[in-house]
Amino acid sequence: MDIVLVGPGRAGLALAVRFVAAGHRVVGVVARTDESAEAGAVLVGSSPVPDGEHLPKSDLLVIAVRDDDVADAARSLAPRSAGVSAAVHVSGLTSVAALDPLAATMPVGSFHPLQTLPDPQSGARRLAGAWVAVTVFDEGLASTLDDLARSIGCHPFRLADEVKPLYHAAAAAASNYPIAALAMAERLFSTAGVPFEAARPLVEAVVANAFELGPGSALTGPIARGDVGTVGAQVAAVAHAAPDLLEHFRSFGLAVADLAGQGDEMKDVLR
Ligand SMILES: NC(=O)c1ccc[n+]([C@@H]2O[C@H](COP(=O)([O-])OP(=O)(O)OC[C@H]3O[C@@H](n4cnc5c(N)ncnc54)[C@H](OP(=O)(O)O)[C@@H]3O)[C@@H](O)[C@H]2O)c1
Repeated sequence: MDIVLVGPGRAGLALAVRFVAAGHRVVGVVARTDESAEAGAVLVGSSPVPDGEHLPKSDLLVIAVRDDDVADAARSLAPRSAGVSAAVHVSGLTSVAALDPLAATMPVGSFHPLQTLPDPQSGARRLAGAWVAVTVFDEGLASTLDDLARSIGCHPFRLADEVKPLYHAAAAAASNYPIAALAMAERLFSTAGVPFEAARPLVEAVVANAFELGPGSALTGPIARGDVGTVGAQVAAVAHAAPDLLEHFRSFGLAVADLAGQGDEMKDVLR
């Protein structure tokens, strides 16, 4: 496919690197500044599209600007897009309706990689095996986007436009909440003189168990067992060594207790 990239940032360039590696062509890069368009274009063997110029003839416009900027970008691109066949944005949250200014002349959708893409090169590597949420109202575009996702080693799945905010909340819970728990664990391990690295096999095993057994069945430990005395001793140790973490330790514990069906038993020690 011939693709125009709008927004050569973390996600846009990670995708573009992957597109090129899969044999697609990035035929133009649109950015807010000439320097940024030039730098992005160099990375993917493309050319910058100067401000205000018509976009090159292409099969797909991939708009990878920040969520809040998608609608503005679509408005400013619409008069320049006569040679473009279809357009997507890559936001997991934003409605496809943000592309309405382009929808008058082409099918539009969204193409959201459910993966963290911190920079172009590592993002491109992490896209291997990632799932991609495809939101479209046009079946022709749906199959084009499914093929595009598969061509870069991803698994496409259909996502309804109206559930995108809920899906995005789920993605935040899956990707960010464990990091907050791990940051708390790192502090407590370190205060106890234990290297954080020692927890890696344990953490990797519980994540694997959550996918193999389901999160509810993957729980082990004193809260799942209903071992109130042990949990009380943990709470006392945290209160002594890291009092600023106590509230979070209790909150996470309550979420675990609810999941384990131990909310009533644990409420006195965790509330
Ligand atoms: N990064 C991830 O992990 C990830 C994963 C999946 C999906 N996404 C989605 O990808 C999108 C971009 O996120 P990001 O993390 O890649 O953000 P980012 O690194 O900030 O990249 C956004 C890029 O868009 C450029 N830009 C902004 N307005 C523009 C416009 N009107 N025309 C052309 N370029 C414009 C920005 O340029 P300036 O630097 O000049 O502002 C920047 O290069 C978001 O919708 C996000 O939800 C991100």
